[in-house]
Amino acid sequence: VNKIDKEKPVLPRITKELDGYVGFANFPNQVYRKAIKKGFEFTLMVVGESGLGKSTLINSLFLSEVYSADHMGPSHRIKKTVQVETSKCLLKENGVNLVLTVVDTPGFGDAVDNSNCWQPIIDYIESRYEEYLNAESRVNRKPISDTRVHCCLYFIAPSGHGLKPLDVEFMQRLHDKVNIIPIIAKADTMVPEEIAYFKKQILSEIAQHKIKIYDFPDFINEEDLKVHKSLRDRVPFAVVGSNMVLEIDGKKVRGRKYPWGIAQVDNLEHCDFIALRDMMIKTHLQDLKDVTNNILYENYRCRKLGGVEFTKQQRSLNKNPLAQMEEEKREHAMKMKKMEAEMEQVFESKVKEKKLKLKESEVDLQRRHEQMKKQLDAQIKELEEKRQQLEAEKLQWEQANGVSLDELRRKSLERDSL
Ligand code: GTP
Repeated sequence: VNKIDKEKPVLPRITKELDGYVGFANFPNQVYRKAIKKGFEFTLMVVGESGLGKSTLINSLFLSEVYSADHMGPSHRIKKTVQVETSKCLLKENGVNLVLTVVDTPGFGDAVDNSNCWQPIIDYIESRYEEYLNAESRVNRKPISDTRVHCCLYFIAPSGHGLKPLDVEFMQRLHDKVNIIPIIAKADTMVPEEIAYFKKQILSEIAQHKIKIYDFPDFINEEDLKVHKSLRDRVPFAVVGSNMVLEIDGKKVRGRKYPWGIAQVDNLEHCDFIALRDMMIKTHLQDLKDVTNNILYENYRCRKLGGVEFTKQQRSLNKNPLAQMEEEKREHAMKMKKMEAEMEQVFESKVKEKKLKLKESEVDLQRRHEQMKKQLDAQIKELEEKRQQLEAEKLQWEQANGVSLDELRRKSLERDSL
């Protein structure tokens, strides 16, 4: 990521002035005409919690209704999972065509548990890289349409308390995949001192977490350099978005009207909207595309093809013996680990089986115990009934015969002893 393609062409030592006009000085014009004819493609992603003013800002940036979430309505857009939605439009300015694709990520940061909410976004970015890589690797290559995400505007909520853990996590996971430009949303909710402090906090946290945001290189000509630096010092841009046109002293301005005044979108004293628009579109749009192509996409390509290369290498028989030994050692260690895991699994399943059996026999014993107890209780009950019946019969006989059986038994015992 770091080795930004700043290599200059190696020039020959001898420089010769031409005696006349050859025509290659017209080369930039040729490039210009071709580029104009072809038009430009730019894909802009917006990420941030719902309601931070993403659609308003995008429409303010391109001075037209390029992106509308109206068809969904804010309430419908609150989803449990993050979605990736794209909308495309063709913009024309002074004969230059720009195909702008806006990639929105509704649902980001809106759930109670936001873990992994960045994953659909990573998947989308990588799938665009993969699409491009496949198109490049085709035998018959047609002109490739570039749908890769060239820039990601990350909206930070104007809390005044630095970055949230989700902001850090998102930027850390995405900074080597896409150009991130952090933005403080709804800057009209803070006073200038608060914004300055908030920006300082954000920048220090970005540095502390080693996050690499897009850094607007200064390849601008000398006279514009001062202006460029002053604009760059405004990162992270604190923006105000509005699609409302108001009138101030007969001049039409876009802004947000409050009882105490108007926050003007296009006024650098009110917010950084113009700084963001000038740098992202006027001066650095091509660089954002170049960084995407030369660094971020190249990184993806290396990772992807590097993986393929390794399997091919493994298959080849011409291996360096030391590397082969290393590989065998690794394989052996992996095998051992696998065996260990398998044995552990077998042991665990045996223990489970034994435990299950023990439980089953315990249940069986319990059942048998219950059964015997029931039988014994029934027998006791039966005996008791018989005893009561006998007692009743005895009483009945004694009453009928006018003698007591106990008395008779006592007398017969006395007789026997005599
Ligand atoms: P979802 O479509 O739900 O993702 O929201 P969003 O991020 O696209 O926000 P949207 O542009 O729909 O704006 C949400 C609300 O915030 C609207 O009422 C806007 O008028 C308002 N809003 C947009 N930008 C600003 C701003 O800079 N400052 C203030 N105070 N309000 C803004």
